[in-house]
Amino acid sequence: MVRAHQEQSQRLRDPDWHAGQDYAPPSVDSFRADRERVDDAHVLEVLYSLTQPEDVVVDVGAGAGRFAIPLARRVRQVVAVEPSEAMRTVLARDVQRAGLTNLQVVPHRWDEVLSVSADVGGDVVFAAHVVYPLADIEPFVRHLDAAARRWAAVLVFEAPPLSWLFPFWPAVHGETRLPPPHLPQLIDVVSELGFSSFTVDRIDVEPFDLGPADLARTKLRRRLYVAPGSAADERLGRAMANCSMIAGGFWSRVPKSQSASGLFAGSPCLSAERHDVCCAT
Ligand SMILES: C[S@@+](CC[C@H](N)C(=O)[O-])C[C@H]1O[C@@H](n2cnc3c(N)ncnc32)[C@H](O)[C@@H]1O
Repeated sequence: MVRAHQEQSQRLRDPDWHAGQDYAPPSVDSFRADRERVDDAHVLEVLYSLTQPEDVVVDVGAGAGRFAIPLARRVRQVVAVEPSEAMRTVLARDVQRAGLTNLQVVPHRWDEVLSVSADVGGDVVFAAHVVYPLADIEPFVRHLDAAARRWAAVLVFEAPPLSWLFPFWPAVHGETRLPPPHLPQLIDVVSELGFSSFTVDRIDVEPFDLGPADLARTKLRRRLYVAPGSAADERLGRAMANCSMIAGGFWSRVPKSQSASGLFAGSPCLSAERHDVCCAT
């Protein structure tokens, strides 16, 4: 599923489409803390309910700190594992602004962490929106589990990420979009790995605005692999003109097509209190 999704992205992207080497500033912004998003607050409520003030929490793929920073205000220590330099730069700045001294950054991928330091672990370990591109998810999940003393968690979308964009694919690329893995596949993986008991916690996703039509077009180009001025861009323009989400020159709120979900799995070989969590926003 991962490979088919990635192959389609590669094959249909405009030759001039360029995403850059790392996360671009607008994408980094959407992973920052304290943006008063209702769905972030819902995820945090779940995380707060499962953590204690003395906990060490490991946030794998912490991004710009959307969850790591609020958690650091609540627990003894947060370890933010984050391989992207662009994300780490914003994270470090926001940590400093927040006056936090208990958030440690580990600048590596989760699969590299073991070779760098065997000590990265905590009472609680979670990864939010990190696993979609992993073709081999098993070692990642096993490592999360092994690094967690009390529970581990994975947060994913219940519906395929960016599925609100799927109606544009036939119009722009002439093909139905192949979905990346999301909650149902994660549940299969966790079950196959032998985590026999788990619960799923669904967290509502906040609908969002794409903004004025020109900004919306920029955002859609990026996500549809369309370069400005290309034939695909022309098709995108036509598709946008026919799209019911546009209202008065502004894109109205993108409907709630993805409710978030969480899967909490208690590993039978660990203590009964231990939980493994897979959630989605
Ligand atoms: C979609 S962002 C999510 C960021 C953050 N967890 C959030 O939900 O706001 C995915 C993040 O995972 C990081 N990442 C990707 N692969 C990773 C890996 N193998 N180990 C750790 N982090 C990874 C990326 O650099 C990126 O910051």
